[in-house]
Amino acid sequence: MSLFANLFCSSIGRKILMALTGLILVGFAFGHLVGNLQIFSHPDKINGYAVFLHQTGPLLWVARIGLLAAVGIHIWAATMLTLENKRARGPEAYAVKTWIRATMASRYIRWTGYVVLAFIIYHLAHFTLGSTHPEDFKDQYPYVLTHDYTVLGFKAVAAGSEVPNVYLMVYRGFESAPVAIFYMIAVGLLSLHLLHGVDSLFQTLGLRSATWSNCLRRVVALLCIAYFLGNLAIPGAILTGVLQPHPAAQVHQTANVQN
Ligand code: HEM
Repeated sequence: MSLFANLFCSSIGRKILMALTGLILVGFAFGHLVGNLQIFSHPDKINGYAVFLHQTGPLLWVARIGLLAAVGIHIWAATMLTLENKRARGPEAYAVKTWIRATMASRYIRWTGYVVLAFIIYHLAHFTLGSTHPEDFKDQYPYVLTHDYTVLGFKAVAAGSEVPNVYLMVYRGFESAPVAIFYMIAVGLLSLHLLHGVDSLFQTLGLRSATWSNCLRRVVALLCIAYFLGNLAIPGAILTGVLQPHPAAQVHQTANVQN
């Protein structure tokens, strides 16, 4: 059997697929958080960054399709493994304590997975498609960059360019308590999902040895806490008023509305 068929057709292959696609999704999640934290800086930053990403054109589409495939394979492998586990389970297994522990963990990872999926669908409708709050979508109040946006020293977007106002869209989005609270709950559950998922990922890939298993668990827990706090900070700071909209973003908004 080819490597490809092995990955899709055997139970261990599906576990490896789950781990590898999980790794891709974790990489995206952390990268996305770093990009989003630019909301705490000048609006030029996040607005320039968003335009730069969109300017990558075909590369952006490759990344999008790759992410979508990773999500699809991750969910498919999880479903197959759950069904296999259910089939393989004998009635006597109910008596074994370790089995109960394993079931609790997989049950909660499954439920957090469902919420994360629902959140991503809502999130895409909110910030990528602008269908939940069209009045606050990024193209409603274009923003004029006050400085060049540079990447690795190269000018990616020139000062004076009129760009979509991602800064104001995010800001407006999280001024609404139900939206901000939903995001905070969802990123909490996503962080729990990562906590268990990343731990199992190292196990599946055979990267967890008895000697450093505890240390690894602590590092994973710390990363998940940092991920949670970083994501919590954005809706939290906007909803509580700790983060006030930058005057630069507001000036352009007012100018546009008056025109
Ligand atoms: C407070 C937290 C978050 C904020 C402020 C945020 C912000 C944004 C914004 C502004 C966009 C649209 C960018 C644009 O079109 O220019 C976006 C897209 C996206 N976000 Fe988030 N996000 C957050 C959390 C998350 C989380 C937790 C996930 C999932 C792990 C996620 C997944 C995505 C995806 C898949 C896209 C679509 C990217 C594309 O257009 O190809 N986001 N996010």
